[in-house]
Amino acid sequence: MESENPGGLPPLAGRLLEGRRVIVTGGAGGIGRVTARLFADTGARVAVFDISPATAEFAASLGAGHRGVVVDVTSTLACQTAVDETVAEFGGLDALVTMAGLVHPGGVGDLTEEAFDETISMHLKGTFNMCRAALPAMRARGSGSIVCMSSIAGERGGGLRGGAHYAAAKAGILGLARAMARETAADGVRVNAVCPGAIHTGKRKIEDMNAMFASQIPMRRVGTAEEVARVFLFLASDLSTYMTGATIDVNGGMHIH
Ligand SMILES: NC(=O)c1ccc[n+]([C@@H]2O[C@H](COP(=O)([O-])OP(=O)(O)OC[C@H]3O[C@@H](n4cnc5c(N)ncnc54)[C@H](O)[C@@H]3O)[C@@H](O)[C@H]2O)c1
Repeated sequence: MESENPGGLPPLAGRLLEGRRVIVTGGAGGIGRVTARLFADTGARVAVFDISPATAEFAASLGAGHRGVVVDVTSTLACQTAVDETVAEFGGLDALVTMAGLVHPGGVGDLTEEAFDETISMHLKGTFNMCRAALPAMRARGSGSIVCMSSIAGERGGGLRGGAHYAAAKAGILGLARAMARETAADGVRVNAVCPGAIHTGKRKIEDMNAMFASQIPMRRVGTAEEVARVFLFLASDLSTYMTGATIDVNGGMHIH
């Protein structure tokens, strides 16, 4: 029988991020919003980076000491400035979560050049921009955890909501995360990636699609944002100190490989 609260936070999570300074991109909406709140609830000081004008208001709702920064992750300069200001204010950086970006549909034959560039820029370049901006602060103190949001689309070639350009961007994030993991391990920085399947984030227009996906998922339900956020919590925390370069599936068994 399905649990009434499959995304409920188990007591085990406690204060896993006590005193940690964390940036969450895409943190004002969807899975990022739930992750930012979970991180704050487990002791982190959170900087919410998002293009949404509601970012500051959401960050303020997390409590005192958190930051809301309106930033477009496709801009290299904006990312660098926002990270530098956050590191200066927080006095360092312990973890970075990159989630910013929207899911775009579209077949390869129909995609415009603009749609392709926009999606690659938002997901792949945005992840690169943020990681590159954050790495010096982590390397300087000899530790840090970066967790990059990929997708089941990047592993199996789309097939849910995202088109070919989205699948390519998410596959690119896996390559980027693995390469960064090799490059930064000796400096004490870990880099891992998360690949969710179909996740419910409360958007009405995708509910019908989710109902369709559910019958194809071995667990017979879509996931919750909390269930994804808890994996980010695990990877950002000291529960995963010997993990780097890993790709973690959060998909109810939809893609087993
Ligand atoms: N929801 C799913 O089923 C699912 C599955 C696999 C992967 N993902 C990935 O998870 C991440 C979050 O997805 P979601 O469903 O929560 O999406 P969402 O649309 O609810 O949230 C995305 C957030 O990113 C922000 N954003 C968009 N473009 C940005 C930019 N250029 N700069 C800064 N912020 C920007 C938005 O304002 C929004 O707050 C995405 O990377 C998505 O590809 C989602």
